Amino acid sequence: MFLCCWLGLVALIPTTLSTNPGVKVRLTEKGIEYGRQLGMAVIQQKLGSIKIPDFSGTEKVSPIGKVQYSLSNMHIVNVGLPKSSVDLVPGTGVTLSIGDAFISLNGNWRVKYLRIIKDSGSFDLDVNGLSIATTISIKSDETGRPAVSSDSCSATVGSAKVKFHGGASWLYNLFTTFIDKALRNALQKQICPLVADAVSDLNPQLKTLNVLAKVDKYAEIEYSMVSSPTVLKSLIDLSLKGEFYNIGKHQEPPFSPAAFNLPPQNNNMLYIGMSAFTVNSAAFVYNNAGVLSLSITDDMIPKSSPIRLNTKTFGAFIPQIAKQFPGLMMKLLVKTVKTPTLTFQPNNATVQAITTVTAFAIQPNSTLSPLFVLNLEASVSARMFVSEMKLAAAVTLNKMDLTLDKSYVGDFQVRSVFLYNNTQLAKGYPLPTIGKMKLMNTQLDVLKDYILIGTDVQFS
Ligand SMILES: *[C@@H]1O[C@H](CO)[C@@H](O)[C@H](O)[C@H]1NC(C)=O
Ligand SMILES: *[C@@H]1O[C@H](CO)[C@@H](O)[C@H](O)[C@H]1NC(C)=O
Ligand SMILES: *[C@@H]1O[C@H](CO)[C@@H](O)[C@H](O)[C@H]1NC(C)=O
Repeated sequence: MFLCCWLGLVALIPTTLSTNPGVKVRLTEKGIEYGRQLGMAVIQQKLGSIKIPDFSGTEKVSPIGKVQYSLSNMHIVNVGLPKSSVDLVPGTGVTLSIGDAFISLNGNWRVKYLRIIKDSGSFDLDVNGLSIATTISIKSDETGRPAVSSDSCSATVGSAKVKFHGGASWLYNLFTTFIDKALRNALQKQICPLVADAVSDLNPQLKTLNVLAKVDKYAEIEYSMVSSPTVLKSLIDLSLKGEFYNIGKHQEPPFSPAAFNLPPQNNNMLYIGMSAFTVNSAAFVYNNAGVLSLSITDDMIPKSSPIRLNTKTFGAFIPQIAKQFPGLMMKLLVKTVKTPTLTFQPNNATVQAITTVTAFAIQPNSTLSPLFVLNLEASVSARMFVSEMKLAAAVTLNKMDLTLDKSYVGDFQVRSVFLYNNTQLAKGYPLPTIGKMKLMNTQLDVLKDYILIGTDVQFS
């Protein structure tokens, strides 16, 4: 039984490993450096929240004998982390090193000696030359979400200086050595658990990464990791599934992702490679849902165009239309016949689609009277680019085959009707800002089988 299961598992592994991702995300050194800055702010805050428990004890101090002491109400007043670095550890994760850090705290002291003499005051403690080193591993959890953990940690305190205020000054000298040692130990013990906390605090946030996110009422996208992150000397790569599905019905499309490798660019913090597979899986889903259709009405045609979508325009080519439906506006309904396919070639995104176009005349009472149905097979290419923080495309019609499928107004010659001008149109869409994250210096390249988006991010 055990052997069976084991062999079964072994048999599963190669297929799991060979799943090509639909989306790849790369964090470069520049991105990791930005992450370090964000991370240090969190660790600084954590260290500022250190609570040192009150403590008390008894020491023999010559010549007065036993001294009972207690320290209370200690709190951090300042934390400085002037030096830190993050280095990638290939195959594992990152090491975070903090050096020359300092912590200042103050608190109250109280002593009792010779049975009846009591004294009290306050003190300041300055801890300098603090260094912290921790290794953070990055893995994929069982649900395909990234998970981080602090695997090893060491913290050492360089020097500590206590300054007492109030009370009898001769006592201070007797005290400094053991109090400063006790405080150093108390602090040192707390640092690594706090750093581990700061790291694991990331996990609840990483867990909220929906591995299955609803897109709209038809589609959801799965972007779980298909393998553990790859950590190399100067980058971290995540391989995500990046596949669209019909909501609740996960039918695999009859195509699968092609392998692709992100180019060795590192000017931006983050690179996202989105494969043609991801886009085509979306087309497959929407086509199955029967919603890949487009209604074209006159108000969608630019006001400046002399060509209007009405029976007068069409009547010039098909006189029956003007005769039977004089003075009416028209509507075109474009519907896909099979899933359109998208291909990415360097600098060229091409969509091939087979559709039907149904033309209607709109009656004054809003009834649609069908005029004709055309079969349209088209190939459209776009050169995509980012200009002034907007995503734009120049579109070219490569090919358009039109045939008459059905006519309600008598036979006519199709070719003479539609002689479109292969106009290049460029339209800009502003790039999204996601929550508190703003995209900056974004660029987009169409490469073979995928598009590459390089961007810097800024959290506000
Ligand atoms: C873009 O690619 C398509 C198909 O791969 C091709 O037909 C078209 O000519 C290409 N366009 C340009 C501008 O290279
Ligand atoms: C709308 O008008 C057309 C043409 O005048 C007519 O044939 C049709 O019956 C009307 N439909 C309704 C629902 O009134
Ligand atoms: C197509 O339209 C563009 C822009 O309106 C124009 O510059 C170009 O000459 C037209 N091409 C043809 C073949 O008519």
